[in-house]
Amino acid sequence: MAAWITSPRKLRLIYFALVFVTVVVVIYSDAIDRLRFEFVVRKYSPCLPQIDESSGPSGPIQNGDQSALPNCETFSTSPFARDGIQVVLKIGGAESRERLKSHVDGVTACIPNLLVVSDMEQVVGPFRAHDVIRDVMNVLSREDRKTYQRQRENYCYRNDKEPKPTPGGWKLDKYKFFPMVEYAYRQNPHAKWYVFTETDTFVIWDNLVQLLGRYNWTDPLYMGSPTPGRTLGQEWGGRKSFFAYGGSGFVLSAAAMEILLQGQAGDNTDGSQLLTSKYRKMIRGDCCGDSVLGWVAAQHRINVTGLWPMFDPAAVHDTPLGRTSWCQPAISFHRTKAPDTLKLWRWLQEKRKDGMSLGRPILFSDLVDFLGILNVAFREDWKNTNAATFEKQFLDSFESCRAACHDHPECLQFSYHHRRCHLVREIDLGNPAEPEGDGDSQHNRWLAGWDVEKIKRFQEAHPCGQVDWPAPSLDRIF
Ligand SMILES: *[C@@H]1O[C@H](CO)[C@@H](O)[C@H](O)[C@H]1NC(C)=O
Ligand SMILES: *[C@@H]1O[C@H](CO)[C@@H](O)[C@H](O)[C@H]1NC(C)=O
Repeated sequence: MAAWITSPRKLRLIYFALVFVTVVVVIYSDAIDRLRFEFVVRKYSPCLPQIDESSGPSGPIQNGDQSALPNCETFSTSPFARDGIQVVLKIGGAESRERLKSHVDGVTACIPNLLVVSDMEQVVGPFRAHDVIRDVMNVLSREDRKTYQRQRENYCYRNDKEPKPTPGGWKLDKYKFFPMVEYAYRQNPHAKWYVFTETDTFVIWDNLVQLLGRYNWTDPLYMGSPTPGRTLGQEWGGRKSFFAYGGSGFVLSAAAMEILLQGQAGDNTDGSQLLTSKYRKMIRGDCCGDSVLGWVAAQHRINVTGLWPMFDPAAVHDTPLGRTSWCQPAISFHRTKAPDTLKLWRWLQEKRKDGMSLGRPILFSDLVDFLGILNVAFREDWKNTNAATFEKQFLDSFESCRAACHDHPECLQFSYHHRRCHLVREIDLGNPAEPEGDGDSQHNRWLAGWDVEKIKRFQEAHPCGQVDWPAPSLDRIF
């Protein structure tokens, strides 16, 4: 035996055989990995998480508040027909039930043709979410494929009601953008507009319908809140592209869809994903799918129609209501918490019942009423300085800060912290704030105030006789 091995020729043979086997294993390990993946996906396919009404978290709807139930009688569904506006909601495996319910029972409750896409098959109220990642898993990096598997496994084995986010689960989001666009077109190639939203996007649908009525769907349009993105190539002089920020929702016209998805027939059911395959490397390398989409659109000579602040990446209570946007329609907000989402939805329903369709859209100035600003002159442990502070003074009491705002002709609200008095020209509600700093506990508190009388006077002086539809701009950005 020893003699057999020590023969130099045999040793060389063994050596080459080992090298050969190693090469084969390296080449096929990815295939093996993929096979295992297929197996795992199949294994967990029957596990469809259900969103049922009786086991959700205690939200406003579970409390038996009947007025909270969606009422779509006053909602005009006709624009959301097959050949009208196609709405797509993108969700994820780690989405909280509360957020999903704020859509199922609110924001998207009245959209008759809603398509829901996810990184996992899910049942959401009356909707079944299509797993768009399943369609394109060859595009996922190895690590992300593992995350995708783990997410499914976690979901199937979860024994608590609220799904816990899978570590790295958010990284799957970027893979969903192209498959989502491709899926929407495959499902409905007849729409004039495609609107893409997320679970923390609030859309004022009536306003969106009016906005789209002002544009022509036969033009290649890509609308939303413009955000600087990836650098374009040499032929563009190395300029940066813009993308429409996904969080506040974005719109593609039928013409833009056709340009982007050329070669993908509407009745194509074999699941060919041309865009997704073509840009797989870029998708793997970028943080965000909306950014890659913007770059690809620019390659197809489709520029973003920038409509900030109508498409607003901030939440309603973080949006400064001021002179510039006062008479402009609010189309969408991002980062809206589930309870606020339902509140805003109900408020809009009341508006509709009261005949809000006074022929004009909901304007930013109308939101002063929604936020209840005129009922709060003062809040403790609260910060209302999201809007720019135009003047800061050192004053020794909250009362003198209030007086300073009152005496300044442009000041509408103020905050007080560490003896600093911040005067603000715009109106916003702001957020609860923990004490901050290393002074004594009283000094560390944030105190917020609104000059209600001046705000009322400001409203009276700026009645919005005419709706201000701002022209698209890439200079006016968040
Ligand atoms: C939209 O554009 C097309 C082609 O330019 C034109 O024929 C059509 O009349 C336009 N529609 C509207 C409503 O302006
Ligand atoms: C898109 O924007 C670039 C400049 O940013 C401009 O040169 C180009 O003409 C625009 N394309 C269209 C179709 O408007």
